[in-house]
Amino acid sequence: MTADLGAQLAAAFDAAVAADERVEPRDWMPDEYRASLVRQMAQHAHSEIIGMQPEANWITRAPSLRRKAILMAKVQDEAGHGLYLYSAAETLGTSRDELLDKLHSGKQKYSSIFNYPTLTWADVGAIGWLVDGAAITNQVPICRCSYGPYARAMVRICKEESFHQRQGYELLLALSRGTEAQHAMAQDAVDRWWWPSLMMFGPPDDESAHSAQSMAWRIKRHSNDELRQRFVDIAVPQAESLGLTLPDPDLKWNEERGHHDFGAIDWAEFWDVLKGNGPCNEQRIGQRRKAHEEGAWVRDAAAAYARKQTAQQAAQQAANPAGQNEEARV
Ligand SMILES: [Fe+2]
Ligand SMILES: [Fe+2]
Repeated sequence: MTADLGAQLAAAFDAAVAADERVEPRDWMPDEYRASLVRQMAQHAHSEIIGMQPEANWITRAPSLRRKAILMAKVQDEAGHGLYLYSAAETLGTSRDELLDKLHSGKQKYSSIFNYPTLTWADVGAIGWLVDGAAITNQVPICRCSYGPYARAMVRICKEESFHQRQGYELLLALSRGTEAQHAMAQDAVDRWWWPSLMMFGPPDDESAHSAQSMAWRIKRHSNDELRQRFVDIAVPQAESLGLTLPDPDLKWNEERGHHDFGAIDWAEFWDVLKGNGPCNEQRIGQRRKAHEEGAWVRDAAAAYARKQTAQQAAQQAANPAGQNEEARV
């Protein structure tokens, strides 16, 4: 590529992004844009599938058939979200195998929230309400992300996440209005999940390594702190309707700002969990590696089946190049 052509392509890319047009897989894009998207989409996909673990922990102990069916559907949705996102990342030329290898070897991360344990049934409610709620706040703007396949995957994901958030809220409401012990269980779960949920938006804006460039490329639309504030403002009235308290004595409405003020987040805890020292880091990645190894025969069988189909189609085409046999085309 000549320097001239390179500059022209870069200018066309910048103009398309600035005009809010979608970048598609076959379009030219800067290497850094591609790398940044792969990093973000991979981390997102990994979070979806690792996020199945804390809740799957409660499937066998769900208190009723209705709750069990709902939870199974939710956990299955998360597997689907992983699938959409790995597929979207593949459009950038990175295979799913490669991304999974990076997850298993610790070279790529998943959201730290999933390194916390689910100690009681109420945690399923707190995860739905707060963790899926925070995820939606983060992800709705990605539906307008500049990269087409990522934006389109997010539209579908966000619709499903809304159900997840509502099932968590409804579960907590039932517990909160139940016996004293049930109410206490709901409160305890919210006490443990509130602060890690706030950390899900990532470090404060001035410490966020990738934010500014991601915003310039319109991969990201709002800063971490902006989204965190939006989430707090949504959660406060919801906690009131639930009859539960958010564990922050500094949480109060600020008339002047038109937002809620909230207490200081323990960023030392965030960085520590990110480094691998959370309560469940080892368990989560160990479980994932084991599931991957145990699923090797399924991948082998699927690949063998695909090879067989391709060979059969090739043989049929060779025998009947004009495609006159109707059946061969089915
Ligand atoms: Fe999800
Ligand atoms: Fe979800």
